[in-house]
Amino acid sequence: MYNIAVIPGDGTGPEVVREGLKVLEAAAARTGFKYQTQDFDFGGDRFLRTGETLPDGAIDELRKFDAILLGAIGHPDVKPGILERGILLRARFELDQYINLRPVKLYPGVWTPLKDKGPDEINFTVIRENTEGAYVGMGGSFKKGTPDEVAIQEDVNTRKGVERCIRFAFEYTKAHSKNNTLLLCAKTNVLTYAHDLWERCFHEVGAADYPDTKLDYAHVDATCMWMVKNPEWFDIIVTPNMFGDIITDLGAMIQGGMGIAAGGNLNPEGVSMFEPIGGSAPKYTNMGVINPLAAICSVQMLLEHLKESKAAKIVDEAVAWATSEKMKSMSAGKMGYSTSQVGDLIADKVASA
Ligand code: IPM
Ligand code: MN
Repeated sequence: MYNIAVIPGDGTGPEVVREGLKVLEAAAARTGFKYQTQDFDFGGDRFLRTGETLPDGAIDELRKFDAILLGAIGHPDVKPGILERGILLRARFELDQYINLRPVKLYPGVWTPLKDKGPDEINFTVIRENTEGAYVGMGGSFKKGTPDEVAIQEDVNTRKGVERCIRFAFEYTKAHSKNNTLLLCAKTNVLTYAHDLWERCFHEVGAADYPDTKLDYAHVDATCMWMVKNPEWFDIIVTPNMFGDIITDLGAMIQGGMGIAAGGNLNPEGVSMFEPIGGSAPKYTNMGVINPLAAICSVQMLLEHLKESKAAKIVDEAVAWATSEKMKSMSAGKMGYSTSQVGDLIADKVASA
């Protein structure tokens, strides 16, 4: 029996999570695993009501679950940064979810802005470090608001944090790479302290424990260039937090948009959290037009994580069927179906798989 925490969150989060749970239920019935869910109302509405982002004890409570499914965080009436830092980043940090796993996979039938590229060319994975870098929030301002203002934001890279991410990436490469190659994406020519640590660690771990794995390297700017020009060059990419954030939005666009991009915040030794990588899309809230596939693909990743491989495979195939045979577009309002109809399509397909 799996215990799954559900944080629907803000905006369109609750709508897409509902469809994700519909598919989870169908997958459980089809393959025979048991689970129960518990809802948490963390998000903008709760913050506006109580002034609280995550209440005391929330993190300890979340720690007890087998997995977490998150919809979206971000509310138009709350100043940007408060909910992101107070809920999303805090959960990632305090639950020590040190990997952000983001597949960039173009499903069949999905439109990509890249001419002459299809599912064979756009299929790689970004492993983003998820607990360090500029995201730690260290730094400060001096003489703020004056012409002499100084603002410092520290980019924190620890040997332990870098190494555990790189080790995860090597293991992931061993299990999933097409040609046993791991690419480090960084900026060693400019970030000569931080990314020197990344590069040394990458080569040391590779030489010591993964002698058969091929090591590759690309600067982050070149990575952006090749993601557009030759996405087929990529397989498994490991990268620091901020670069991972940026290149996975580019990745989301080439795989068909925020409507279908999913990710997992993983603590391989603890509790992991799965979420659509897009935001709360306030302008589409409660219109029944938002694409739930990113949430459904998050459930697919959650199933993979729980080692319910058969269920994960069935959901993946149902998504591919819907994108190739049914849906007109991945964009909100243009799918040819409502949000809940897309959920029904996938759930029915899973049930009859
Ligand atoms: C993401 C988001 C977050 C991040 C924001 C909302 C803090 O953009 O999950 O990629 O930068 O990590
Ligand atoms: Mn992002």
